[in-house]
Amino acid sequence: MPDVVRVNRDLPWREAAKDADALRPMLLDQIRHEDFRGRRVVDLGTGEGRLAFVVADLGGRVIGVDLDRVKLMHARAYAGIRDFRNVEFVLGDVEKTPYHEFARDPIDAVVSNLCMSPEIVWHSSRALRPGGAFIFCAHHGDHWKETRRGSRWAFYEDSMRDLLEENRFQVEFLGVDTTAVAFEDLREVELFLRDATVRRWVEDGRWQELADAFDRGERHLTLSYLIVKARRTAAPYAVD
Ligand SMILES: C[S@@+](CC[C@H](N)C(=O)[O-])C[C@H]1O[C@@H](n2cnc3c(N)ncnc32)[C@H](O)[C@@H]1O
Repeated sequence: MPDVVRVNRDLPWREAAKDADALRPMLLDQIRHEDFRGRRVVDLGTGEGRLAFVVADLGGRVIGVDLDRVKLMHARAYAGIRDFRNVEFVLGDVEKTPYHEFARDPIDAVVSNLCMSPEIVWHSSRALRPGGAFIFCAHHGDHWKETRRGSRWAFYEDSMRDLLEENRFQVEFLGVDTTAVAFEDLREVELFLRDATVRRWVEDGRWQELADAFDRGERHLTLSYLIVKARRTAAPYAVD
C-alpha cells in the first residue's frame, strides 16, 4: 500500500489566487506518467474540457462527458479552434449512465478533475478493462473546513482507499495537496472567491461560520485536494 504523499503550503491570498483554479501539479504529474498513446480515455465531468485536452495532447483518444450543455459547447469550440481530432464531447450523467454508452471501444482509462462520488467509482470500476487506469483529483475532506460544512464531493484518504478497494481497484498513488490561504479580513475573502460562491455561502450559513472563525482570529481558508491513481484489478464481477 503506497504512503500518502502530502504537500502543505501557507500562502497569502494574492499569491494563492494566481493558480487557485489551475489543475493541481500533483494530478498533472500522475497524468503525465501514464502512457495514453492510442488509448481510449473518458474524462468525467469534463466541463470545458481542460483535462481532456491535456490527455489528448498526450495521445489519448478522449471522450469528455458532462451534463452541462453550455460547457460542452465551449469545449467543442476550443477543440475546433485548437484543431484537436482525438477528443469529442458528449452529454451524459456520469453517476447514472454506464460508461460503455459513451464509448464504443473498451475503455483503457478514466480521468476526472473535481467530479467524484461513490457512484462514479462504481461505474468506473465496471467500465475499465483489467489494468485500466483511474486517475483523478477530488476535493479532500479538509477543503474549506473553516466553513464547517462537508461536501458530498469531498473525501478523506482512508475512505477513498476503502471505496476503491471495495470496487476492485488497486491504489498506486494517493496524494493530498493542501494550501492554507491567509487573509487580513473578509473583504479579501470576497475578492478571492467568486461572487457566486460568496452568495451561496451567505445563503447556506457557511459565510457566517467563516465570519465567526475570523472573529476568533483564524483568518485563513483551507484548499485541499485528494489526488489518486488506481488500477482496475482483474477480479471480475458476477454477471447480473
Ligand atoms: C468543478 S467542475 C470541473 C470541470 C472540469 N473537470 C475542470 O476541471 O475544469 C465539475 C463538473 O462536473 C460536472 N458534473 C457534475 N455532476 C455530473 C454528472 N452527474 N454527470 C456529468 N457531469 C457532471 C459539472 O457540470 C461540472 O462541469
